Amino acid sequence: MNYLRNTWYAAMWSQDLEPGQIVGRIYLGEQVVLFRSTDGKVSALDDICPHRFAPLHKGYLVDGCKIRCGYHGLEFDGSGACVRNPHGKERIPSAAHTRAYPVAEKHSMIWIWMGDQAADPDLIPDFQLIDDAQPELVSRRDWMKMEAGFELVVDNLMDLSHTSFLHDGLLGNEATIKSDTKVEQNGNRVSVDRIARNVPVTKFHDLQFLRDGQPVDLWTNITWQPPACLVNDNGVTRPGASRVEGTGVYGIHFLTPETETTCWYHFVAVRQNPVKHGEPLDTQIREQIAEMRRYAFVEQDHDMIRAQQQAMLRAGRTLKEVSLESDVGIERYKRVLRSMMEAERAQTRSPSSGKTQIPKAIVA
Ligand code: FES
Ligand SMILES: [Fe+2]
Repeated sequence: MNYLRNTWYAAMWSQDLEPGQIVGRIYLGEQVVLFRSTDGKVSALDDICPHRFAPLHKGYLVDGCKIRCGYHGLEFDGSGACVRNPHGKERIPSAAHTRAYPVAEKHSMIWIWMGDQAADPDLIPDFQLIDDAQPELVSRRDWMKMEAGFELVVDNLMDLSHTSFLHDGLLGNEATIKSDTKVEQNGNRVSVDRIARNVPVTKFHDLQFLRDGQPVDLWTNITWQPPACLVNDNGVTRPGASRVEGTGVYGIHFLTPETETTCWYHFVAVRQNPVKHGEPLDTQIREQIAEMRRYAFVEQDHDMIRAQQQAMLRAGRTLKEVSLESDVGIERYKRVLRSMMEAERAQTRSPSSGKTQIPKAIVA
């Protein structure tokens, strides 16, 4: 499968790679080993020893900053260079090195660059809103592995009409199907704004808002940016009132392909304009927000998307989906993604033209 390569992908939450820890992962079909030195620096290498191809993640850290192959003991630094051969005269063969991937830490996340072009830290997607939020307004930084290709998960998020069915009562209901929907494109970002007016309040939103079971206006405004980073500004307000008078969360979603049919899913929520209910209720609400989101993603979305992926694989033929009006956001983001991938492929075909020109804005 083709992937967009010259871009930053979310590798894992910073909190999940502690000093001295080694983790093996697959991104874009490639085996990668990540490790954090005892002084905090993160490195990512091809997870295959150049000697006899043992995965380096089965080794261990030495001197706090080098990874030692667990099979015959070659040692590699964070640049992928072999720095010690314990055998014979201890000469280091010139071919004894492994590829290093650029990594960066920003917005509580370790980002990895899988392409051949120079990695530009300025291209890391902007999720400053995680950094700016008071810690008590940020839910657990959570993740799971999805048994489905990453685009199926992005499709799920870019068409939130599914909340009326798959998350009935929790995040949507029968009345929220008829939402006013608007799709916008701003450069390479695509947003889908939906508002359902004067509808029964959902469980997730009643938890945070007035806890009175009364009707609300419910909005979701989800924005995708390449390669697969999304923020869903969603909440409720009294019928007819402005959004700033309501409350909700920014649901943040990072998808990273593992293989064609599996992906890594990292998520967190930042509360916006929280209603104060007093303690211990506010702490309980915070925990329930994380629990409900995890339940929705693991038990409901994942269950359906995995089955969808399996059905597609079993069909064993090229499938052409039936397009509905609610698919317009999906179609738009895919058009942007395909254009960026095509630009990257064109660059690969004629490398003499210099650095990849990733389009800053693709006009619809
Ligand atoms: S396979 Fe790594 S040192 Fe032999
Ligand atoms: Fe969902």
